[in-house]
Amino acid sequence: MGFSVENRIALVTGANRGIGKVIVETLLAKGAKKVYVGVRKLEAGKELADKYPGKAVPIVIDLNDRTTIKAAAAQAKDVELVVNNAGIALVSKVLDDNAFETLEQQFQVNVYGLLAMAQAFAPILKTNGGGAFAQLNSVVSLKSFGDVGTYSASKAASYSVTQSLREQLAGQGTLVVSVHPGPIATDMAADAGFMEIAEPPSLVAEALVKAVANGEFHVFPDSMARQMWGAYEGFARNVIEPAASH
Ligand SMILES: NC(=O)c1ccc[n+]([C@@H]2O[C@H](COP(=O)([O-])OP(=O)(O)OC[C@H]3O[C@@H](n4cnc5c(N)ncnc54)[C@H](OP(=O)(O)O)[C@@H]3O)[C@@H](O)[C@H]2O)c1
Repeated sequence: MGFSVENRIALVTGANRGIGKVIVETLLAKGAKKVYVGVRKLEAGKELADKYPGKAVPIVIDLNDRTTIKAAAAQAKDVELVVNNAGIALVSKVLDDNAFETLEQQFQVNVYGLLAMAQAFAPILKTNGGGAFAQLNSVVSLKSFGDVGTYSASKAASYSVTQSLREQLAGQGTLVVSVHPGPIATDMAADAGFMEIAEPPSLVAEALVKAVANGEFHVFPDSMARQMWGAYEGFARNVIEPAASH
């Protein structure tokens, strides 16, 4: 099911900074024909649009606003690879007073946003021959980190949704990819206090492109992620990855 990104048309959410921006630049460097740069405000896509005229095309997608997702799907009918990268991480423990609010906010973006993206773009990917849908999950999808307990819960839920998408989209020939980085050097890692141990976003982008080429579901791109994969791989290969029996 895998394919090269060369000459393909992609869309990346949360593409104006952090991991998303590096994914856009990596896809273009590897020969993608066009990449829709998903941003909450069009101006935020200007830097990439100016740097890659005609190839980096800003498009408004706010995962908190489903009308923008539907409008983007009506505009980007030629997309073959969707990377749902946008996400929020709030530093909040499950016993904090604000845990209900932070859990809700993160579910809105990290889980309901994923659901809305998948529902809007699955029919487009089908029409365009299958393609691929990649989701930025995390190592915290597998193991909760207490200081970011509510974020961890949202990323566990998004991983669960990603597994269901893999099963449901297999029939239309769409590859689903679940990316699980550890700490990566972006604003998010800085805000969460992980910058000292963070690794470059290019590791994530390169591993994602490789997984799409090889038709792989699980991606564990950096040192911490690979360490976790070492312990998790047996379970993943034997329990998560085999087709579900109905
Ligand atoms: N950095 C890490 O250590 C790490 C590790 C594992 C997984 N991840 C995951 O990787 C993804 C990217 O993380 P990052 O580190 O690059 O984060 P980041 O530096 O904080 O950037 C987040 C991006 O998402 C966008 N975004 C936020 N809320 C949005 C919404 N409601 N709708 C649309 N876009 C929205 C932001 O846009 P604005 O500029 O408009 O805010 C920004 O472009 C996230 O899903 C994150 O959970 C990150």
